[in-house]
Amino acid sequence: MLKLQGIRAGYGRIEVLHGIECTVGDGEIVTVVGANGAGKSTLLKTVSGILGIWSGTIELGSTAIHKKSVERIASLGVVQIPEGRQLFGPLTVEENLELGGYAKRRSGRKAHAKLEEVYELFPRLRERRRQQAGTLSGGEQQMLAIGRALMAEPRVLLLDEPSMGLAPLIVKEIFTILGELNQRGLGMLLVEQDARLALSLAHRGLVLERGTVVLEDTGQALLNNPDVQAIYFGQHGGRRDSRTESA
Ligand SMILES: Nc1ncnc2c1ncn2[C@@H]1O[C@H](COP(=O)(O)OP(=O)(O)OP(=O)(O)O)[C@@H](O)[C@H]1O
Ligand SMILES: [Mg+2]
Repeated sequence: MLKLQGIRAGYGRIEVLHGIECTVGDGEIVTVVGANGAGKSTLLKTVSGILGIWSGTIELGSTAIHKKSVERIASLGVVQIPEGRQLFGPLTVEENLELGGYAKRRSGRKAHAKLEEVYELFPRLRERRRQQAGTLSGGEQQMLAIGRALMAEPRVLLLDEPSMGLAPLIVKEIFTILGELNQRGLGMLLVEQDARLALSLAHRGLVLERGTVVLEDTGQALLNNPDVQAIYFGQHGGRRDSRTESA
């Protein structure tokens, strides 16, 4: 289980997260819903170690991880898929995947088996294994970003807006695969502007307002919550459509 207690963090002297409490059980999907600037990405960055915390603790099982490096945290099983994907554009699909598994220092055969597993999950990546990552469509790039994270054999995946800029059909495909990965036991902390979609996948959800958790409930209860519906449903549909790319 991943457990955050009293997390305060920010940039410079500005505090963005004001004491966050949050747990992600083994194999659980927890969604964080909130407006632009609420601190969702900041929260994920504190968990993956990209951003240091000012106070509080983050534990994975019985191991405190909040003072460890990004690489160490990833090798312990907490892996972030960054907002904007951050692939190595000039490298091929397969090279990007291999880099994802680099920290694992597996034998050739084990690394190959992991690669096969990712290709089975994303046949489209197999077809394009020799293609430069930078020339993939937006949807394929998101698949590659997820595939690369899986190469590190995470226990908890941190996802920052996986639907960003993608056509609805591709978003559906990606969320189906996230559901499948969860069925196999992978836990997730999921940040997503499309609150309705993300909550329908999640076991539990948190609503973050200006750096504070104001509501926490099961995904289903939040989906049915009139306040959540009024504030967070619908307003982002247009945003996503306006940024839609071809898949
Ligand atoms: N590198 C940074 N330096 C200074 N301030 C930052 C930095 N990154 C984020 N912030 C500020 O921290 C606050 C929270 O930002 P954050 O990116 O966590 O929000 P968010 O909930 O992910 O928003 P969005 O939905 O737009 O992605 C905002 O006020 C933002 O301006
Ligand atoms: Mg963000």
